[in-house]
Amino acid sequence: MALFSSLPRIAILGAGIIGLTAAYELAVRRGVRVTIYDVRPPGRGASWAAAGMLAPAFEAADAPGVHPRLFELCLASGALWPGFAQELAARAGRPVGFDRTPSLAAALDEDELGRLSRIAATLRRAGLAHTELSAAQLRRREPALNADVLGGLELETDVRVHNRETVSALLAVLGAHPKVRFVDGPAPLKSAGGRVRLEGHDAILAAAGWETAIIKVEEDGQRFSLVNWDTALDDIDCHGGQMLAVRADEGAPERVVRSGRVYLVPRSEQVVIGATVEPDRVIDAPEADVIEALRLEGVRLCPGLAAASVVESWAGVRPGTPDHAPFLGETITPGLFVAAGHYRNGILLAPVTAKMLADEMLGEAPDGLAAAFSTRRAFAATP
Ligand code: GLY
Repeated sequence: MALFSSLPRIAILGAGIIGLTAAYELAVRRGVRVTIYDVRPPGRGASWAAAGMLAPAFEAADAPGVHPRLFELCLASGALWPGFAQELAARAGRPVGFDRTPSLAAALDEDELGRLSRIAATLRRAGLAHTELSAAQLRRREPALNADVLGGLELETDVRVHNRETVSALLAVLGAHPKVRFVDGPAPLKSAGGRVRLEGHDAILAAAGWETAIIKVEEDGQRFSLVNWDTALDDIDCHGGQMLAVRADEGAPERVVRSGRVYLVPRSEQVVIGATVEPDRVIDAPEADVIEALRLEGVRLCPGLAAASVVESWAGVRPGTPDHAPFLGETITPGLFVAAGHYRNGILLAPVTAKMLADEMLGEAPDGLAAAFSTRRAFAATP
């Protein structure tokens, strides 16, 4: 994109953690005027539904078929989180729950033990801190774990943040910022000369999660979907997720613990138990049988949770792509940028996404890592 002689005015479509963090980077850090549009309440989609794990190792160090540089992208964003969390909390005057305590990964069967040893091998090759733990060592670190655990890992790379507090802090800072305007409704996008335009703005960032491709654009009185301006957006799919929170009574874990598809995250006097991954499903409300099955998986990992009462259950929709990595950067339509498809890593990848998009929207050529996540990329394999 051409360099602007003065700062551009930018429209952000989507007020989830990706759109909000991009707005923070552009407006608060770089002084750009932004307008944030959303048809839904800000920050109440996947960003609210998430558990807040920032987990490069568990999510991407051994994930066959995913984008070959996803782990690198996750690590790059993990490195930005401490500074981002500290700065955001200071500006907002409220905590965001960033906690550097390493997560624990536990194996209850041989398959999971094998997966954890592959994760450890990747971390070893990359020189990243982690500790391989026997069953006894693991239970010393987290006594709430099932006595049948076979062993596991302590992952220094994998930490956590309170995602709901983070979203609230972003909304507080952005809501009070003179360069930021929120619009509760769709952006009146128009197409002219093969480009997508929005009056009063120089560039557009589409960051509406799984709904990014279906954002509407008016052309000759008709409404078309954004996917017509970059057909790659058609690859953004949806992965429903359901989860619950139980009361953190005696016997509850104090550390983030993961095993296979189940994770337990202590948060605000509760323990979050997550999560299902349900491809091609937009789930509006949690389903009782699914939540009960998930609760039992959580209890298997930490039996002391058996009697803990369920405080809340909910559902959300993750946006995915065939290689489980986001689309980042300018689309094939000049002036139209995208940041969507973060799959299970939206909270983790928010700071690096915001930085890469802000760099590119303000005229810098994308670096090698950013370019690898362009909508022009080919998908090697489907995981
Ligand atoms: N990041 C965990 C999940 O998507 O369930």
